[in-house]
Amino acid sequence: MAQQRYTLTAALPYTNGPIHIGHLAGVYVPADIYARYLRLTGNDVAFICGSDEHGVAIPMKAKKEGVSPKEIIDKYHGIIKKSFVDFGISFDNYSRTSAQVHHKTASDFFKKLYGQDDFIEEVTEQLYDEEAEQFLADRFVIGTCPNCSYEEAYGDQCENCGTSLNATDLINPKSTITGAIPTLKKTRHWFLPLDRYEGFLKDWILESHKSDWKPNVYGQCKSWIDDGLKPRAVTRDLDWGIPVPVKGAEGKVLYVWFDAPIGYISSTKEWAEREGKDWEPYWKDKDTKLYHFIGKDNIVFHCIIFPSMLKAHGDFILPENVPANEFLNLEGNKLSTSKNWAVWLHEYLQEFHDMQDVLRYALTANAPETKDNDFTWKDFQARNNNELVAIFGNFINRVTVLTQKYYDGVVPEPSEFTEVDRETLEALRKYPEKISGSLDRFRFREASQELMNLARLGNKYLADEEPWKLIKTDEERTKTIMFVALQIAVGLAVLSEPFLPFTSEKLKHILSVIPNEGEESLNWSTMSHTETLLPAGHQINKSELLFRKIEDQEIEAQLAKLEATKKSNQQMNSNIEPQKETITFDDFSKLDMRVGTIVKAEKMPKADKLLVLKVDTGLDTRTIVSGIAESFKPEEIVGKQVTVLVNLAPRKLRGVESQGMILMAENGEGKLVFVNPDEQDVKSGSLIS
Ligand code: 2FM
Ligand code: ZN
Repeated sequence: MAQQRYTLTAALPYTNGPIHIGHLAGVYVPADIYARYLRLTGNDVAFICGSDEHGVAIPMKAKKEGVSPKEIIDKYHGIIKKSFVDFGISFDNYSRTSAQVHHKTASDFFKKLYGQDDFIEEVTEQLYDEEAEQFLADRFVIGTCPNCSYEEAYGDQCENCGTSLNATDLINPKSTITGAIPTLKKTRHWFLPLDRYEGFLKDWILESHKSDWKPNVYGQCKSWIDDGLKPRAVTRDLDWGIPVPVKGAEGKVLYVWFDAPIGYISSTKEWAEREGKDWEPYWKDKDTKLYHFIGKDNIVFHCIIFPSMLKAHGDFILPENVPANEFLNLEGNKLSTSKNWAVWLHEYLQEFHDMQDVLRYALTANAPETKDNDFTWKDFQARNNNELVAIFGNFINRVTVLTQKYYDGVVPEPSEFTEVDRETLEALRKYPEKISGSLDRFRFREASQELMNLARLGNKYLADEEPWKLIKTDEERTKTIMFVALQIAVGLAVLSEPFLPFTSEKLKHILSVIPNEGEESLNWSTMSHTETLLPAGHQINKSELLFRKIEDQEIEAQLAKLEATKKSNQQMNSNIEPQKETITFDDFSKLDMRVGTIVKAEKMPKADKLLVLKVDTGLDTRTIVSGIAESFKPEEIVGKQVTVLVNLAPRKLRGVESQGMILMAENGEGKLVFVNPDEQDVKSGSLIS
């Protein structure tokens, strides 16, 4: 087959935190399956990624941690890069947008568009934080979304309805740096007039890609285009990023969404330089197929804005497809870095050693391909125990153990094939095509299930043919059965590689099919064309278990961890009232607070919340009406000591005069409690000071 050139990109992750299962499921696992599949089918692939190290999120995180932005990007670039290696994401290059090659590439790109008059230069009024002396854009400002009224929408996007926003669109904007209400201040910026590309986008997406792009991607693009495109600012007033390379733009940087996708090109250059290749065909040759793997929040940037930039530039090809996924939730709630509602990849590996493939498989089998999906630990356990262990692992274990036991690990010579044998081998040969059919349409879930069906085929074949019984009566027939089963085992070793790369490697080692230097490895095409994948006489290695069972306690421990996170979030969110206005010492000394003892308590008729108390204040026994009936029964509190504000002006509540106030506190669950938890018996009338 002639080699087809592919450039595959996976969204550049922001280096403001580690990555979690949502990133893996939405972008990196499908992208990696696709890259491995294309390589196995004989294509020329550049699989490109890197860290997205600019944008407001970085200096914000740095401020929060009290370190420099550089320290933040270095720390998370390291953690993220390691996670990708650990999970077998086979990037040909993983770069970073702080790299020199990227600064130059992005600067040159901007200059080219600037030189061609592709930008509108305009002085407009933008939000400004007087206290921080800083313009507010993107994540530096929150306010109410004009589209869905969500009150915490960011200046670039509403995370509730997904609408992309300009900071000035927000209703009641507020600075996230100081909390100040911003003013408007004039500033000069460069805008990409997206309206100029409407015709091009209509032809290219709405006409040409109607049937081959995923409906969720096509639908989002259509609604953007139908709503009418507006110019977008591609520069920012910020001191972190790539300086705008034109005169009069001091103190301004490129908008992160202008430079980040150019990062794909820079990363390809870095790779080509290292490998002694030419990067240009991967981005400029019309025969190259470019695919962007992303999550749904990135669709507009990859389908509308970046293609408009590429079109304006003129030298580059456009993406053939953008197979964006929807979002993954975790146990019913949205994954959230700030709320720590996530399964972090580096933590997962500490708890499930060497079980990368299990997570890859669970995330693929349940991928959020057409709608948001939920990751549950129970499903993860079931995918492992009921599929990887009980079907895939069980089949391989039976075949390899029996081959060792009966033939000392040497593949037996088959005799005559029966009808069932022939059908089984024929079915095996069809699997590469079946799996390709799903992968070519970006149906990764379906493809993973086809792979599991091949293991099912193997299990059924063994269960029906029962070599462990026949060995006693018909050695020749047993040899044929084991020969056929071993062919399926090799098929699984080859076809599982994109999905379960570590398992595939282990299985190839057990079956001893790892090629020597210079030898061609088994691949998709050898599988569909070769009659015999593993010849008689071939020696396999000792059997090893591919997967282990996951026990209930392990799942319970994960659920308990999430429960603890939920609790701690609830506590943090329980309304802590802001501090009231400062008072003078004189104001304070006017308060006369005493220890009092409740001597009588009864419900106020027809009032759910009020109790009428008689309180011995040491000065007198007086009536105090208190709103504590929902927290205490009258009989519970007689004899309790409380703090009483005795010189509060009397007032009537439901016709009863209240001569003071008792002080209580509200606990985390909103229940009132006495503020004298020690229950020390203090003399009534003692002054509190
Ligand atoms: O959403 C994100 O995490 C972005 N950092 C993705 C950037 S993709 C590309 F354009 F670089
Ligand atoms: Zn909204």
